[in-house]
Amino acid sequence: SSNDDKAPLALNFDAVAKNKLDLVTVPAGYQTSILHALGDPLSLADAAWANDGSESADSYNRRVGDGHDGMHYFGLSDAGAYSASRSDRGLLCVNNEYVVRPYGLHASGRTSGATRVAAEVDKEVNAHGVTICEVRRGASGTGMTMVRGSSFNRRITSATPMDFAGPVKGSSLVKTKYSADGSSTRGTNNNCANGYTPWGTYLTCEENFTNVVSRAAGDDALRSPAEVTALNRYRLKQGTASSYLWDTPTTGSADDYARWTASVTGASATDDYRNAFNTFGWVVEIDPFDPSSKPVKRSALGRFAHEGAWPCNPVAGKPLVFYMGDDSQNEYIYKFVSAANWDAADIGKGLAAGAKYMDAGTLYVAKFNTDGSGTWVELTFGKNGLTAANAIYPFANQADVLTHARLAADSVGATKMDRPEWGAVNPANGEVYMTLTNNSSRTASNTDTANPRYYEDLKSGTTTQKGNVNGHIIRWREAGSDAAAVTFAWDIYLFGAEATAAANVNLSKLTDVNDFSSPDGLWFDKNGMLWIQTDDGAYTDVTNCMMLAAIPGKVGDGSAVTAASGMPTLKGADASATTVRRFLVGPKDCEITGLAMTPDRKTLFVNVQHPGENGSLTTPTSAWPASQTDSASTKRPRSATVVVTRTDGGEIAV
Ligand code: FEO
Ligand code: CA
Ligand code: CA
Ligand code: CA
Repeated sequence: SSNDDKAPLALNFDAVAKNKLDLVTVPAGYQTSILHALGDPLSLADAAWANDGSESADSYNRRVGDGHDGMHYFGLSDAGAYSASRSDRGLLCVNNEYVVRPYGLHASGRTSGATRVAAEVDKEVNAHGVTICEVRRGASGTGMTMVRGSSFNRRITSATPMDFAGPVKGSSLVKTKYSADGSSTRGTNNNCANGYTPWGTYLTCEENFTNVVSRAAGDDALRSPAEVTALNRYRLKQGTASSYLWDTPTTGSADDYARWTASVTGASATDDYRNAFNTFGWVVEIDPFDPSSKPVKRSALGRFAHEGAWPCNPVAGKPLVFYMGDDSQNEYIYKFVSAANWDAADIGKGLAAGAKYMDAGTLYVAKFNTDGSGTWVELTFGKNGLTAANAIYPFANQADVLTHARLAADSVGATKMDRPEWGAVNPANGEVYMTLTNNSSRTASNTDTANPRYYEDLKSGTTTQKGNVNGHIIRWREAGSDAAAVTFAWDIYLFGAEATAAANVNLSKLTDVNDFSSPDGLWFDKNGMLWIQTDDGAYTDVTNCMMLAAIPGKVGDGSAVTAASGMPTLKGADASATTVRRFLVGPKDCEITGLAMTPDRKTLFVNVQHPGENGSLTTPTSAWPASQTDSASTKRPRSATVVVTRTDGGEIAV
């Protein structure tokens, strides 16, 4: 492991106090700067962000997008290639998940009404996706700035052409007017968490794509029963207007807007966009080192509300494994095992390596047994009842299984989880951690040992929250520590809770230095320190969302306790101030999500998403990031990437 020659891990910083300031707060001895925020120009040709929404829709093809989320840092060599060791120069890939309440984007907020203004829709389409920019350290210090005008700077948006690869390529399920042979499509969106590959490419993952596609009333009658089953299971019922209303502009290129409705309008699948919905919900691979490369939707990894895709520790001669969560209530945890065995000679081979490792392989879904064992159930056409005779859905082929992975997982009895968000693989031992952020639909009668808590939180203002209010983090060790194994051992590492909660809710014995709610972002640094980020509405009466650092033990460390639901749990180690500690608190009404670190561990990047989300243009609740340096600022709040360094230039949190 990477820390064999070092002292044991220790959290050598003072815990940041819970707070509701309009600031990013970090421990004493640390400092912050802003790398980039919504609307900042990547190119030298565009004007600076004006704070009035005057930027054109087209300029968002060259400006930082909205809703910063998952990200990854890739070292960049002098020759412009991937360098796993380079810390002073790199490419930072940042997901731009969404424009929830776009008052940073438009002149006077989003225009109301059932029909959207074309220029607003165009701007929102272009503000989604991924921002790639070159970053560099200055002559001294460990801070980092964006290299405006770098030839590597690039936006990938909800209009960028991309290819399909893997078993779904060419399937009738993804044939559209844009791509009659089902080989390509336009755009990625709702790019939530991310992943990366051992060969040096970025993975961006399509989560809440259901929000961008509409389906007209009466559409069921124009569909086969199987199509209706699939659309309903993926929560696109007939009569659904999308929350974005991107299909509604009545001016401009009709095809640009018609592609956002899945309604049957023509005689055949290639006359219309009835399959538009199936073109989202995938893991997309991007080669940041080749700005002219076309992103690829890697269909073998399945289609669901992809939170992210995280690789196992690669082992020469063994398959590569990617772990994935489907972030909706009562959805599943999946893994993909490559058919090809890992060969480090493929580092730097870009999308060609992606084709080798991600287009052929096996998708599995997780079943957590009550005794602490678990099983990966294969989702392959013809196996485990995944055939045309299946009672839940008549699977026609592997493309059908992958496009409708949720139905396949239902069929094999996978375990319904409390909203799987981020995963992370411990570099020291290969154990896999995944956040289960919360689940308001968990009931007292359907708790299980992997999702063991039902309780009521009476403290959140006037609202009583129920279910698994504060979330937890589950972890597992693959049999034989082989990432491709089909069985595993699991326990629950940590339960979110308010420090003052009852003992049968605050099962990890959190205190003021480390209590948190709704774990979401999760990441291991190369030392094996675990970083936990929150996206919460249950504890935000007391504190803004936050990031904690933790030193985890291993599966099986703890002993059973009993949750408020009465369900005994398989529990990891208790938290203490020496094993879990709060490192950062974000500004008002934000989510802390996405982090990356340079290989030398001296520069930390953290994303702040939707500061001021609960406000409006006329009654703002945040002026961040401007408020970070000017407490009297009245500027619009913007999602942004924060750079955190130690004032003495040392490694983070050691
Ligand atoms: Fe976009 Fe599940 O968070
Ligand atoms: Ca509360
Ligand atoms: Ca998330
Ligand atoms: Ca979340």
